[in-house]
Amino acid sequence: MCGIVGYLGPQDPKKVIIEGLKKLEYRGYDSAGIAVLHDGKTKRIRAEGKLKQLEDKVLNENFNGNLGIGHTRWATHGPAVEKNAHPHQVGEISIVHNGIIENYLEIKKELIERGAHISSDTDSELVAHLINEEIQVTKDLLLAVQKTLSKLIGAFSVVVLWEKSPNELVAFKDGPPLIVGINEKSSEYFVVSDVQAALNYTKNFVYLEDREIVHIKKEGIKYYSALGAPLKKQVITLDWTSSQVEKMGFKHYMLKEIYEQPHAVASALQPHINMQTLEVNLNNVGFENPVEEVLKKIERVMFVACGTSFYAANVAKYLIEQLARIPVDIDIASEFRYRKPMIPANTLLVTVSQSGETADTLAAIRMAKEKGALTLSITNVMRSSIDREAHGHLYMNSGVEVGVASTKAFTSTLALVNLLAVQIAKARGVLNKDAEQTCVKNLLAVPSQLEMVLAFDKYFSEAAKKLKEFKGFLYLGRGVSYPIALEGALKLKELAYMHAEGYAAGEMKHGPLALIDSKMAIVVVAPTDELIDKTISNLQEAKARGGKIISIGSGENLALKSMSEYYLSIPEANWMTNPIISVVPLQLMAYHMADSLGFDVDQPRNLAKSVTVE
Ligand code: F6R
Repeated sequence: MCGIVGYLGPQDPKKVIIEGLKKLEYRGYDSAGIAVLHDGKTKRIRAEGKLKQLEDKVLNENFNGNLGIGHTRWATHGPAVEKNAHPHQVGEISIVHNGIIENYLEIKKELIERGAHISSDTDSELVAHLINEEIQVTKDLLLAVQKTLSKLIGAFSVVVLWEKSPNELVAFKDGPPLIVGINEKSSEYFVVSDVQAALNYTKNFVYLEDREIVHIKKEGIKYYSALGAPLKKQVITLDWTSSQVEKMGFKHYMLKEIYEQPHAVASALQPHINMQTLEVNLNNVGFENPVEEVLKKIERVMFVACGTSFYAANVAKYLIEQLARIPVDIDIASEFRYRKPMIPANTLLVTVSQSGETADTLAAIRMAKEKGALTLSITNVMRSSIDREAHGHLYMNSGVEVGVASTKAFTSTLALVNLLAVQIAKARGVLNKDAEQTCVKNLLAVPSQLEMVLAFDKYFSEAAKKLKEFKGFLYLGRGVSYPIALEGALKLKELAYMHAEGYAAGEMKHGPLALIDSKMAIVVVAPTDELIDKTISNLQEAKARGGKIISIGSGENLALKSMSEYYLSIPEANWMTNPIISVVPLQLMAYHMADSLGFDVDQPRNLAKSVTVE
């Protein structure tokens, strides 16, 4: 979490940094700040709240230096007040920091013993103190940083500015991402948490690995290990454009991203489907050996993820177990990494992460690799930390997802796990060619089915208006629709700040029925599949106790419609593809509810998009 921008170049650093921070605000929006050199001195401006507050504050400020750093914060240590906002300045040193310094109490104690005056509640300020102490002795920023890095334990990325050196930045990381942007032609250099912050200026990037240091000077860039050994780094040229990160006329990024789902799903599927033979081919995921050979040896699949990505993994369990007849375990990454999991031989461990940077998921994949598992990452951000760690790679290909609440990455992942289920089933010899082609045809129909759902947005928006009257929400589903109910409840919680719980419909009589009264809405995900009659019976029990039902069903399901206050129709699909379609009304209802309540849909309170701390 937290967004970092460092800039060295001929343009007005204030402009470049604020523009970059706007692209990173999804990473944190509690407070923000910049430090830019002016007349050889550091000028630091910080503001509590969203970036807009900072923008207003710096509007009439002028800086004549070529160098600056900026930060948008998601609070870890200390509340979101100005004194805790970054950059932190101690003497001649200013820093911006993303992550957590785990040994901060120890460092703080030592600093206080040496007479330091600590002015914030953060762990970050301590890094500035340490570098400032070192620079007094070394008079060399790179050396001061190297010495400081050896004292830090935790997960962090840091950019450092020294006011005595107006053409130099040093940055380092151990955990959260830090990427160097280079435009040789215009002599511009960037250090950013996400390439989006610099895409307007360059397409050439270098990804720092853990415990690497970058030394940026007007004359050029050098890379070092934590111990000072020079490193050669590869420059990667990205083909993304910054327009992919614009709202394109939509009121919010989230709405744009919901509407991008037909295209996103098609883009996820396209690289892996042979349109002539209608076969699935995951040979391009990057395993050393042919994919069928690899998957034939697999005896267990384990999925590890967080949040919405974890719910996608839940769907994967249903699909892969039923289609490929192989055991599938699913785990929340923060639980997995500390419960000393057993990872038997011949396990395929799959991580799902839109950002590819989620700290717990990253730790899980590293652990699984150490224990000998074959790993496959499903990510949206190519070359993200998790992607770089994995043996095999599946890409969501959703395009940049800016809205903090994940939407298109979820549906693209569901498309990919359909493909994975088919490929594993083929490798195990339990899926014949006809059945494979049927699966592929069903998948190819999804983008136009999604278009149809989106065309009915006005019904979801009307339903959302009515739903505001309820005090609580139970989201229900059975089979593959159960994880969709969980995802629907999460969307409502995080966007509209309303209490919502997802339940397996069959569990109602084991407790949640007690909650039912006229103020409790029951949102049921009930597309037609082999469990639909059982779901309807569960709803009868809820209705008999006064429950108000809002249902999502396939086509005209009269039985479901007759018992519902609102019936929302989605196109008929197959059990494996139903989840991709049935989640969209839930996304839209949560979106419209939050928007009509006046909440910030793209940046819900207390959250951040890329969770790089555990
Ligand atoms: C909810 C949401 C989060 C993320 C979770 C994992 O809408 O977006 O629950 O799914 O933080 O993030 P990734 O997928 O980047 O690992």
